[in-house]
Formats: sequence, C-alpha cells, structure tokens
Amino acid sequence: MNLQIDGDRLYRELHDLGAISSEPAPVVTRVVFSEADMRARRFIKTLCAEAKLAVREDPVGNTFARWPGSEPELPPTATGSHIDAIPNAGLFDGCAGVLGGLEAIRALRRAGFRPRRSIELVVFTSEEPTRFGIGCFGSRMMAGAMGPTAGDMLRDAEGKSLDEARRAAGFRGELSEVRLQKDCYSAFLELHIEQGPLLEQKGLDIGVVSAIAGPATLRIEIQGEGGHAGAVLMPQRRDAFLAAAEIALAVEAAAKGTGAPDTVATTGICDIFPRAVNSIPSRVRMEIDVRDIDGTRRDGAIAQIEQAADAIASRRRLVLRREILNADPPAQSDAGLIAAVERACEAQNLTHERMISRAYHDSLFMSLIAPVAMIFIPCRGGVSHRPDEYSSPEAVAKGALALAETLAALSS
Ligand code: GLV
Ligand code: MN
Ligand code: MN
Repeated sequence: MNLQIDGDRLYRELHDLGAISSEPAPVVTRVVFSEADMRARRFIKTLCAEAKLAVREDPVGNTFARWPGSEPELPPTATGSHIDAIPNAGLFDGCAGVLGGLEAIRALRRAGFRPRRSIELVVFTSEEPTRFGIGCFGSRMMAGAMGPTAGDMLRDAEGKSLDEARRAAGFRGELSEVRLQKDCYSAFLELHIEQGPLLEQKGLDIGVVSAIAGPATLRIEIQGEGGHAGAVLMPQRRDAFLAAAEIALAVEAAAKGTGAPDTVATTGICDIFPRAVNSIPSRVRMEIDVRDIDGTRRDGAIAQIEQAADAIASRRRLVLRREILNADPPAQSDAGLIAAVERACEAQNLTHERMISRAYHDSLFMSLIAPVAMIFIPCRGGVSHRPDEYSSPEAVAKGALALAETLAALSS
C-alpha cells in the first residue's frame, strides 16, 4: 500500500481550526459549548462529510465519524481526541489527533485501502476541565465512569448546569445514552503531541505510550471575613487568601515530599472575592491538580494536602470546605496495540520509543471499555497549554502516518 500523508493540507487545517478561537491569534481558547467550540465542531463535521464519513453526535456532543468496513457488524477500530482548548492554549493539543486521524483515514482511502472493520473517528466533548471542573467529560461518560446525574450536578462558574449548557448548544436526548458497551471498539488509538520534551531531546519521531498517569482534582473553598484594607488591623483579620497562600505551599511540599519525580501538584486556580485592592479577601476558591503514575502515592499526597489545609484554616479561624472532584486511576496501554504501533513505525521507518504520558487524555477513560494505545509526536521544548505550543509539519505528518499504518493493520 502506498500510504501518503498530505502534510500540507493537514497543517493548513490545523491552522484553520486554530483560528477558530474566542481570543485573537496566536491564542487559542475554545471552552466547551462556547461559540468558538460550536464553530470548531462545524468545521470538523464539514471536513468529515467531505471525506464521506457518516457523522453522528451523542447527547453530550461527542462526535463519531465512521468509514464503514466490509464487515460493518464487527466492532470498529477507533481513533480520535478533542478540539476544546483551555484558555490561552495553542494549535496542537487534541487537534493534532482529530485532524491527524481524519488525514490518516483520507490517506488510507487514497491508497485504495478497504477496511474490514469500520474505522471511526471520535471527537470527544470537553477533554479539558475548564468550564465544568472535570477533565475527559465526554469519554468519562462514554466509559460509564460518570453517570447521568452529572447533567445536573456539574455546574459552571455561573451556576449553569451541564444539562442546560448542552441543550442550549443543541444536544438533546438522555444522558444514559452516552454510555458505550465494553468492547464496542476493537481498539482505540489516540495521536497527540507529547506535551513534554523527551522526544525532541532524543530526536525521535514517535513515542509509544505505555501508561497514562492518574489525575486528581481537589477543590477548596475558604471563608474568612472581609473588610476595609486600611481600617482593620492585622491581629483582627481573618484573611482567606493568606490561608490559600499557605495551602499552595503545602501542595508543593506534598508533591516534593513523596520523593518521586512522578508526583506533580499544581494550584492552577485561586479566585479571590471580592478582588479589590483595598478590600481584605473574604473568600477564596482554589483548584488543585495532583497526578502520579502510582495512584496510591498520589492519594497519599492528596491526604497530606487535606490535612495541611484543615490545620491552616483552623489556626487562622477560617471555615474550609473541600471536595475531591475526581481521582482517576492511571491506565495501561494494551500490549498488543503497543506492538501494533511499533510494527507500524518500523514499516514506515519512523524512530520510536516507549514512554509514559504525564498528561491525561481521553484514552485514560477509553481504556475502561477498549484496548488503547497512544502515539506521541514531539513538540518544541515540550511546551503545551500555551499559545507558543508548536509541532513541526513533518512531526505532525509522521504522527498521522504512524496512525494510518496502525489503523490499517488493526482494521484488516
Ligand atoms: C490535559 O489537558 C491535561 O491537563 O493533562
Ligand atoms: Mn490539554
Ligand atoms: Mn489534549
């Protein structure tokens, strides 16, 4: 089979998709169900229709584009990723996997390949936790790791429920319909930028992901007492932000304290109320991201953060409420799929090495219902979740080539 990736077209489409943003270029911001997200969805669906794929959407907007195989009753081979983007993001996170997956399918068609199993491109809703506080929302629901009560339970910062938001975006139907059967796919492969520096440093084309670190999110709300920044003397204060500052340091200490480089923790959100320079912070809401490839060690770090937070709040006479939004186990890739990706790399003369993914991906949840593996490509300086995120046209094309070759083997 003469498999040729149209790298120019793929790269152009990545830029066209990146231009659909709620902030001016080079910033990409596409929060789930925002106007930009809806435009990006239309862009992808148009490309899928042009590629003669049959498109359907589920009640939360997960999108499926299918190329029917000669034995359409067999579980399809699937690939995909996400197109939502955190605030101040770049062009490649998620999008390389969606558009790379589409180009892999187009390349297979051009090469005259005819799949036995159907090949399905999946575009997951809200891989990013920006709006509803929970990552991998679409795949989490698909895998049954989160049930239909999420529709009312999950709320955005304005108090709007996920159900209200999805309905306003035109996605109706019962949330119970989102869940997929185990083994509904014979395999799920995700192409993604590495979001770390190793492939670039080692000069490798492809990282074959063997495991994905388990993410957790802890939300802490602190209630203190506000007041005039000039009039209230220091001994009388119950400043919520000062507790938050101490907690953020405890977060760092807990991650470093495990002694393992695989434990990482970040206080990424710290919202102060009322946010006025001449007013003592009366209330703070923090969200803390903790990850590890070892789930037990991560949970130990979380417990340490919780204990420290409680002690800090009580010493400062503050009321603290805390909630674990998610604490997901790490995932292992399937040995057979890892071998299939490696064979594909060999067939296409692509250099490769196994690695773990420290970022999470929809594959984390797809692993609950199907064998998974991931194909990583290098990105400059390991930079991601920033507007200067960059993968070269060659790197993206090689990723799509490895994906196409693997999809061909798995769907034959
Ligand atoms: C995904 O975007 C992650 O934060 O790992
Ligand atoms: Mn991301
Ligand atoms: Mn991603």
